[in-house]
Amino acid sequence: MDWGRRHRLSRIFDPRSGRTNMLAVDHGYFLGPTAGMEEPAVAIPPLAPYADALMATRGLLRNTIDPAIVRSIVLRASGGPSIVGPALEDEAITTSVEDALRINAAAVTTQVFVGTPFERQSIANLALLVNEAGRYELPVLGVTAVGKELGHQDARYIKLAVRICAEIGADFVKTYYTDGFEEVVRSAMVPVVIAGGKKLETERDALQMAHDAIAAGAAGIDFGRNVWQSPHPVAMIRALRSIVHDDASVDEAHQMYKDLAADEK
Ligand code: R5P
Repeated sequence: MDWGRRHRLSRIFDPRSGRTNMLAVDHGYFLGPTAGMEEPAVAIPPLAPYADALMATRGLLRNTIDPAIVRSIVLRASGGPSIVGPALEDEAITTSVEDALRINAAAVTTQVFVGTPFERQSIANLALLVNEAGRYELPVLGVTAVGKELGHQDARYIKLAVRICAEIGADFVKTYYTDGFEEVVRSAMVPVVIAGGKKLETERDALQMAHDAIAAGAAGIDFGRNVWQSPHPVAMIRALRSIVHDDASVDEAHQMYKDLAADEK
């Protein structure tokens, strides 16, 4: 692996723990102004110091984010469909690698929709990104989509989708936590991070999921809604960070969340 790729990955994965606490804020590329992220310029700055990488679109970055507050960027490079359109899986690559380099992204990302009529197209999008980004030693994050078309998926499906991303050339993969996650990690070949998905009922539920994923060998998390839809987003990202980087227990992290939330009042 070239020095440049290793350097970019070391901006995402903290060399001290080898893990990453990413913050996902890219939802607007198909969901528009999602609850809690209507005003990125207000929502993101207090969270940025606790995120190793921000997963975002170029539009959100250029319009709302001061480059000085962000440690690294994982740039969302796909898009096309919207939540009110006919097929969320019908994505194209929307952002060139040149533009990703102008933004100084540490990685670029697109998602695969394995098991849908668009699986070939979405896997081809990932391959295109790997080929193009590879010219500059720019790492690629492959994302395995679930959602309304695919529903909940078990370890067998997640293993399949994650492994396909790695075989196509993704440097790391983002997927969803599931029972049997150790098997997902074991067969992935590359580091695996988990998305948070829809806001869970309690903060403790989200902390538990992060903890279970890390215990099963995940290389980090990339939570969005479970952070910025929390009543106390800064307390939440800091509590999650303690699990990812400091091996905090769920009880310790939850206590941290409650203490920080109380301090805000
Ligand atoms: C989907 O819009 C994006 O890929 C998000 O980055 C991903 O779903 C993680 O965000 P959340 O934790 O809110 O699911």
